[in-house]
Amino acid sequence: MFKKTPISYALRLVSTFMPIPKPVLFSGPGSTTKLAEFMIDSSYRRPLLVADSFLVQNGMLDGLLAYLKDQGCEVTVFDGIIPNPTFAVVEAGLKLSRDNNCDSVLVIGGGSAIDAAKVIAATHAAKKPPQKLAGNLKVKEAPLPFFVVPTTSGSGSEVTVAAVISDSETHQKQFVVSPKLIPIATALDPELLKTLPPAMTAAVGMDALTHAIEAYTSTNTFTDTDRDAATAVALLMRYLPTATHHGDDLAAREKVALASFLAGTAFTKAGLGYVHGISHQISAHYNTPHGVANAVILPRVLRFNLPKVTDRLAALERRIDPAATGSNAELAQRFVKRVDDLSDTLEIPAKLEDLQASDFAKITRDALAEARRSYAVPRVMKPADVTKILTSVAEGQRDIVFA
Ligand SMILES: NC(=O)c1ccc[n+]([C@@H]2O[C@H](COP(=O)([O-])OP(=O)(O)OC[C@H]3O[C@@H](n4cnc5c(N)ncnc54)[C@H](O)[C@@H]3O)[C@@H](O)[C@H]2O)c1
Ligand SMILES: [Fe+2]
Repeated sequence: MFKKTPISYALRLVSTFMPIPKPVLFSGPGSTTKLAEFMIDSSYRRPLLVADSFLVQNGMLDGLLAYLKDQGCEVTVFDGIIPNPTFAVVEAGLKLSRDNNCDSVLVIGGGSAIDAAKVIAATHAAKKPPQKLAGNLKVKEAPLPFFVVPTTSGSGSEVTVAAVISDSETHQKQFVVSPKLIPIATALDPELLKTLPPAMTAAVGMDALTHAIEAYTSTNTFTDTDRDAATAVALLMRYLPTATHHGDDLAAREKVALASFLAGTAFTKAGLGYVHGISHQISAHYNTPHGVANAVILPRVLRFNLPKVTDRLAALERRIDPAATGSNAELAQRFVKRVDDLSDTLEIPAKLEDLQASDFAKITRDALAEARRSYAVPRVMKPADVTKILTSVAEGQRDIVFA
């Protein structure tokens, strides 16, 4: 039985009574144009187009820009996105949207572009600077209507209540959290995902898998979050290797994009756990890509949680392999092994070379504080548990045993 922490009671209350909308969903090759058509049908004709510069430089948005112009839209392009965007990035986009009197935001890019676009949209009509929106439910005015095409499949930002913006001075990530940050519509267009390199596809895909597993094993689950999270896990196990190693397989790309979307819907309500609590600190210290840090931490946290989530992991194993036989303990072990095998197939390292033992005390403290503040975890860690995980990551020892 789970031991409920104060934060798990608080999250339960919020997720039960706060309505969380879902974006209108378009999917498949050409769905970017369908989304643009929907935006125009909704009478928005002066969008700020926030785009990853990679897409603009490679002419991948030329067709869309020509279409929007043809439809009488006046488009302002902002492509000053950097990975882990800062408030300075948001302010640059905000100036463009205000100077050009934009009536909407259309974003095409990875989690970094989407998060920056969310905060630009949320600040456009606000009387406060974007920094003041950091925290829970600080977005008061209605954001500019925003429309999203993700070009990575992992962050889930295309459907979540959150935007992550880095403070340029402290280098800490700030979380802007509000149901107002959920886009009006999202298009999962595999054509725009073909160029995502294999290592990036694998890392962001493991971020999506982590979202799904942490949502499924939280103490704040609901029927819909269980359904979406389990489907995301099954889709990722089946299609992520193909999407990684055969990036132009549009069918596999679309399935992985759908999995990322579903994992996003699940975790935006059920929450995350220690994998994110620890990986956020690792990324802050060593600039490790979010997906890579999660992928490396995930097998360790699964082993820590195992005694409390045996039945849940067994259920995921049965979902992937309906013919599976054995006790729940055996099936849960098989699921953990499946995650190890997927990491190997995707060539995710078992070790993070940058980790310094001298940083462990601070990483441990901050990870436990983040989890205490934000996550409904199935088993509570002590400092020694986090340190054990960090040591195993530094040494490349994945198969650790917890008392
Ligand atoms: N809002 C949320 O709910 C949420 C959840 C998880 C993570 N995040 C945040 O999302 C960010 C990470 O997002 P991400 O993992 O999507 O990566 P990203 O957006 O930072 O992109 C990573 C790199 O991939 C490139 N890229 C993007 N799409 C491409 C494509 N189709 N082809 C080739 N290159 C492409 C980008 O130019 C960039 O260099 C982090 O800031 C993280 O904190 C947000
Ligand atoms: Fe994540």
